[in-house]
Amino acid sequence: MEKKRFLSGDRPTGRLHIGHYIGSLQNRIKMQNSGEYEPYILIADVQALTDNFNNPEKVRKNVLEVAMDYLSCGIDPNKSTIYIQSLIPEVAELTVFYSNLVTIARLERNPTVKTEIAQKRELFGESVTYGFLGYPVSQAADITAFEAELIPVGEDQLPLIEQCREIVRKFNSIYGETLVEPKAVLSKSPRIKGLDGNVKMGKSLGNALYLSDDLDTIKEKVMGAVTDPERIKKDDPGNPDVCMVYYYHKLFSNEDTCRNVCEECKAGKRGCVACKKQLIEEINSALSPIREKRHYYEERPKEVMDILMAGTENARKVAKQTMVKVKKAMKLDY
Ligand code: TRP
Ligand code: SF4
Repeated sequence: MEKKRFLSGDRPTGRLHIGHYIGSLQNRIKMQNSGEYEPYILIADVQALTDNFNNPEKVRKNVLEVAMDYLSCGIDPNKSTIYIQSLIPEVAELTVFYSNLVTIARLERNPTVKTEIAQKRELFGESVTYGFLGYPVSQAADITAFEAELIPVGEDQLPLIEQCREIVRKFNSIYGETLVEPKAVLSKSPRIKGLDGNVKMGKSLGNALYLSDDLDTIKEKVMGAVTDPERIKKDDPGNPDVCMVYYYHKLFSNEDTCRNVCEECKAGKRGCVACKKQLIEEINSALSPIREKRHYYEERPKEVMDILMAGTENARKVAKQTMVKVKKAMKLDY
């Protein structure tokens, strides 16, 4: 039986953080290693340009950073096709075709697009670009070009997958059954809060803990985390449910440790400084193998580029095959 394809990726606007890792990367790695799927992982440089068109250097530099993050956390180029979006012209072509199948009003109502536009007031002012408003269309092209069935992503991406499904249905109803309708795959914790208590971790929010952070940086970030504000003295009983340190223990520490943290905090038998130090250890032991592997690739950028080029070549073949079907369906097969 043919393996199901899954596809996912990230915009290269910065290094990847724990939010990316727990929200979707871990799922992709698990799916990759199960051997049950055919994985495609894209570095979405064209999409990154939609809100960084004035900063091409930043996007270029981060293509390599994101590739190194992938390789060091366990995306294996022998099992997954890792590729650069801009090198697949079929995706740009599909984007043009699909743009007839979606209204401006529908794009403006997309919750992810709406939130991002609000965050990007400084870049867009009162009037957003055509390219940014339309990026869900190009994301639908990313997915359908590979006939991907499963899309492991964080919660913030759900409206984009839904919009892709609508485009697929519309295409198929007009031009005949051609495209594959994808499904999102959510992780157990599809959205990770920041150590500062913000509902989301993000580069632009300044609260991100990066996969590549060294021990000193982890220390500094964890020591500044928001704890139970009602707790003044060490023997005051605390409420771990309002504490970001406990929230992160639940992500990084085993069940026994979490139970101890919870019980001792409630009983006023645990100091916040000790509690944070223990969390630093847990995070560091999770990240240090990733960091070490990253050092290897940081010394070998050429090897990383070679992996991306080989993946891109492989990806292009698949996109070309889909393009033949699409053009036939649209009577463009001259
Ligand atoms: N929108 C995703 C992000 O901001 C990146 C992305 C581009 C993507 N194309 C995709 C994710 C296709 C999943 C499937 O990180
Ligand atoms: Fe948070 Fe730990 Fe302090 Fe309790 S003891 S408030 S869980 S840091």
